[in-house]
This record gives sequence, C-alpha cells and structure tokens, in this order.
Amino acid sequence: MKKGTKISILGAGNVGATIAYTLTVSGVASEIVLVDINQNKAKGEAMDIIQGTALCPPVNIYAGDYCDIKNSDIVIVTLGSARKPGQTRIDLAQGNVNIIKSVMPDAVRYAPDAIYVVVSNPVDIITYTIMKVTGLPESHVIGSGTLLDSARLREIIASKIEISPKNVHADVFGEHGDSSMVPWSLASIGGMPLNHYLNAMKAKNPDFPGLDLDQIVEDVHTSGGQVIKLKGATFYAIALSARHICTCILRNTNTVVTCSGMLHGAYGINDVCLSLPYIINARGAAPMEVPDLTAEEQEKFVHSANVLKETISSLNI
Ligand code: 2OP
Repeated sequence: MKKGTKISILGAGNVGATIAYTLTVSGVASEIVLVDINQNKAKGEAMDIIQGTALCPPVNIYAGDYCDIKNSDIVIVTLGSARKPGQTRIDLAQGNVNIIKSVMPDAVRYAPDAIYVVVSNPVDIITYTIMKVTGLPESHVIGSGTLLDSARLREIIASKIEISPKNVHADVFGEHGDSSMVPWSLASIGGMPLNHYLNAMKAKNPDFPGLDLDQIVEDVHTSGGQVIKLKGATFYAIALSARHICTCILRNTNTVVTCSGMLHGAYGINDVCLSLPYIINARGAAPMEVPDLTAEEQEKFVHSANVLKETISSLNI
C-alpha cells in the first residue's frame, strides 16, 4: 500500500487556510493537518474544507496539535502576524522571530525528517531563524522567498507584451521585500533574450512602447502592498507559491525555483538567507550554479543581502 502524502500547516490564518484549500483542490496531499493556537479557527477551516471533499480529490484534513504533525512529508510554516496596510515585512521581524523561536524546536521534535516550507514574513529572516534554532539540514528549510515576486514579475511582463506568463522566463533575486532586484540580463521570452525580443518587437512595430524595467521592478515591490490596501491581506498567490514548492518536492521534479536559502559564498555573501535559483526535489532544495550577473546586478543583489544582514544583526535570534 503506497504511503500517502502528509502535509502539516502551522498557522490557520488567511494564508494557512488558503494553502490548505489550494492543496486540497489540487489533490497534492492525502492528509493535511492544520495547527493553530486558536484551535476553533483550525477546526473551522478544516471542517469548511472537508465539507466539500465529496466534490474534489480525496483528502483527510483535520485540526490538530503539534504532536499530530509526526510523519509529515512537508510542514508549511505560516505562523505569525501578517502585514497591515503601510507596514513593511521587516516591521514584523522581531515579533514573528519570537513566535518561531518559541514553537519550532517542538515542531521539529515531532517531525524531524519533514521538509519545512517557510511562508511567514519576513520570510528570509524566518527561514534563517528556523535554520539556526532547529539545526535542520539547510536543504530541508525552503523559504518561499521571491518565488511569488517572480510570478508577479512574469505576469506584469506578460500583460505588457501579450505573451503567456509561462513563456516569460524572468526572476526576482534577493529579499522578498523592497530591496529585491531583477537580473534582467538573465531574462528571456520564449527562449529569446529579453533585449533581443524587445528590439525585434520594436523593429516590427515602431509604435511598440517597450518596457520600463525600473517601473516594473517598482511594481513588483508594491504588488503585495497594493492588494493589502484593497482587501486587507494577500493569500491566494502565496498559497499557489507554496503549492508549487510542495508539488516539486512530492513529485521529485528537479524544478528550478527561485526561493530563499542560506548563502555560503555566492557573490561573496555568507550567513544570510535570500533568494536565488534552487533545484527542488524530494530531497529538498539544492543551490543551483550561481548565475553570472552584470556588475550593476551583482551590486544590487549584494545590497539586498546587506539589508537582510543588518536586520538580522538588529534582532534577538
Ligand atoms: C506577499 O507578498 C505574503 O509576503 C507575501 O503577498
């Protein structure tokens, strides 16, 4: 009898509950446990989802305690406060670090072999904190990082050039936050380097407006905040990001995903988590070869790393 796949979600707030729903309708897991300090919330979310499971792939979803996460293949960490309008993700840092420090050692005791997918913000700081306080293998602690920003970037570009986002290969590196950067020299459209594609479009249609790359980066930086201003929180796109990482792990896909992990010398940077390309499979995340960046791009990436290192040095981790 093939063992089913068990995913536990720590935190049953907007993000955790939406991840549970997204995993359910996608049939990613056969067992989902929702853990939250507000047990009624966790029970209510599990009950709301399970009442629809006659109409979607079978899943055993229930609310539990930390002891119920044992034997999880994946544990998704959404614990902590979410941003409010006008807040930056780094504004949440010490409060969410304190929560993580208080619960993660216990969680890991019950699920020492799980792969941890970190969503809590500031996700780079929380990913770093989990690595430091639990001693888990770094390959088993995957921050969602700029996977979501890269999805936003691809959608923005796609909408401007009328090409499917699936054919826009562009990524955001660095902090999942205001210091992230786009290595435009690595971007391509349908296999064609971005600048070649834009020049070809301009040659074919002199009225083609081209892309304002700096404005696009700014739009990526403010995307989450715009949603929060309108509806109070973000949770659908981040849930799809978490599902993507879980699918790559459970199906052992060797997919390249730009996500947050510990740096050990890339671009001269050590002892900080931020996003670069990783290969995600059943063993977790393995760093890809470090891509060549232009001098300007490398400067922006190092700046992003320094923003996070300064934040880490100001915190009690
Ligand atoms: C976002 O940008 C939740 O930080 C996440 O929507």
